Amino acid sequence: MKEEKPIVQNTSDFYHPSPEIIAQANVKDPEAARLEAAKDIQAYWAKRAEELDWYKKWDTVLDDSNKPFYKWFTGGKTNIVLNALDRHVKTWKRNKLALIWEGEKGEVRTFSYHALNREVCKFANVLKSMGVIKGDLVTIYMPRIPETVIAMLATAKIGAVHSVVYGGFSVEALHGRIEDSGSKVVITADGGNMNGKKIELKKIVDEALQRSGAPEHVVVIKHLGIDVMMEQGRDFWYHELMTLPISKNGVKCETVEMDAEDPLFILYTSGTTGKPKAILHTHGGYSVGVHATLKDVFDLKEEDRWWCTADPGWITGHSYIVYGPLIAGATSVMYEGAPTYPYPDRWWSIIEKYGVTIFYSTPTAIRGLMRFGESWANRHDLSSLRLLGSVGEPINPEAWRWFYKVIGKEKCPIMDTWWQTETGMFMMAPMPAQPLKPGSATKPFPGIDADVVNAEGKSVAPGEEGFLILKNPWPAMMRTIFKDPERYVKTYWSTYPGYYFAGDSARKDKDGYFWVIGRVDDVIKVSGYRLGTAEIESAFITHHSVAEAAVIGLPHEIKGMAIHAYLILKAGNEANEALVEDLRKHISHELGPIAKPEKIEFVTSLPKTRSGKIMRRVLKARAQGMSEGDISTLEE
Ligand code: WT7
Repeated sequence: MKEEKPIVQNTSDFYHPSPEIIAQANVKDPEAARLEAAKDIQAYWAKRAEELDWYKKWDTVLDDSNKPFYKWFTGGKTNIVLNALDRHVKTWKRNKLALIWEGEKGEVRTFSYHALNREVCKFANVLKSMGVIKGDLVTIYMPRIPETVIAMLATAKIGAVHSVVYGGFSVEALHGRIEDSGSKVVITADGGNMNGKKIELKKIVDEALQRSGAPEHVVVIKHLGIDVMMEQGRDFWYHELMTLPISKNGVKCETVEMDAEDPLFILYTSGTTGKPKAILHTHGGYSVGVHATLKDVFDLKEEDRWWCTADPGWITGHSYIVYGPLIAGATSVMYEGAPTYPYPDRWWSIIEKYGVTIFYSTPTAIRGLMRFGESWANRHDLSSLRLLGSVGEPINPEAWRWFYKVIGKEKCPIMDTWWQTETGMFMMAPMPAQPLKPGSATKPFPGIDADVVNAEGKSVAPGEEGFLILKNPWPAMMRTIFKDPERYVKTYWSTYPGYYFAGDSARKDKDGYFWVIGRVDDVIKVSGYRLGTAEIESAFITHHSVAEAAVIGLPHEIKGMAIHAYLILKAGNEANEALVEDLRKHISHELGPIAKPEKIEFVTSLPKTRSGKIMRRVLKARAQGMSEGDISTLEE
């Protein structure tokens, strides 16, 4: 294929939706919806909460008496499973497909709402029989298979709290997360297909548990059929547990009534220090937030087939593979394997095969598939598509246009959604009836007040770069960092007191459209995956040859950003290719292949401040041949 010429970002370049898109949009006038919500956010969110079922409605919409520990829908009684399953199986929807799953080799499994509910009830009874009760932590470390969804829902159903760890993480990352959460049970599989590679998940669990923090039980799903070690009394096969007459009620299992503010899950994400943060989300507000955003931004309809290509192990999967689509009563498509297996048209063939109507993916994936040219997409009938979506990192206008033209055939608007693990739901996103600009997540969702400010907290002029902040609380917001409320206050609410600090830089143009640029902290977005430089540096130090390590992110054509590491070796170690290879393997083994550095350089000194902090900013500038900026604090 002839390479498309890079297109210069043009902020006045509007893409207008067609009359058909506007005619069927759930929100016909997005601007009016934003204005209405801004007038009274509590009234707005109460209205959205009314669209869901509750065991008991709330007394107070928003309790802000102890900022920034906001509470939503206090006094309300619910359980996310009430809205995701229970209410559907009472209607004709019990017969509708909830989930269509395809494995890499083409295996297909489907679940109606009835069938999914049955599996969830059975597994909830299994968890109960293991002594899991309300408030207990359960770690889920799985490939992209239906049992991941079942395990999450079963945990929520009985009031326990799940902590899903992405299956692409490895021994030390998993160990730290199991130990910190204090999980009673770990749910895993013998192995899985992660990005085209077979990963022996159970083996990684065994090694992680050897390092300490042993949970009482490990449940193992037989997925690849590979040999695994089963420790007597600790490890159990899922398929054996699921056939035991564990509950007297057969496959019935009551959903536990929760307070709106009771925890639903924690999800670890990387931050500035080496210790990942456990972001805590709750039943009530989170249900309302994911429901409202999915319905309005992706215009979900009864007849839609929705496909979000993320992994359930990330917030995108939690909110928009598992909970959002199920609350909407939609049909969700899930694919386990690599987009390029066996050929680079696998995703397009899945869209055609299942008649996917809404397709939500990432800039990295689009850029990766773009490389193979248009012909792979053109051999498939993609006419079922109505809307497209993008998330995880800024989408460059060139990739946006390719996605729009080659996949969407210039008739599917692209919903570029900006949000975070912490926000739980879309914060900034267009709605289908609204004009788009390639590369901009457009405007805040109704009820969200975003701004771009300078170091002093003053709004910057249109077009100027600054820090992205959010001025209003919202229902799906994180409630705290599990076991570390101080860090919650410090990280998010102290830079600009009273406002949420997102950690991103952005620009707002003269039309009020936001352009997110990237992270301003020590977080690197590699292929949209969020990694902390400090976590990678700590992993380097555990290698016998490394004395000091500094890690930075540098721009990469496909991945957005790539990891570059600068290492000082301990005396007696020789810097050579074999060592580089060994170090890459070490990082992959400890953290996971996603953290593997693009480039490792051996150095004899690192730029540091007088207090000994590594100046990653200086390393970055040097690597890119740019000015080092203010280096008055530098002491090399
Ligand atoms: C960070 C959050 C929640 C989605 C999955 C990632 C970046 C996310 C966009 C977007 C530009 C984006 C930001 C954000 N980001 N979406 N549409 N445009 N940047 O969640 O791992 O918590 O990462 O991803 O830098 O802060 P996450």
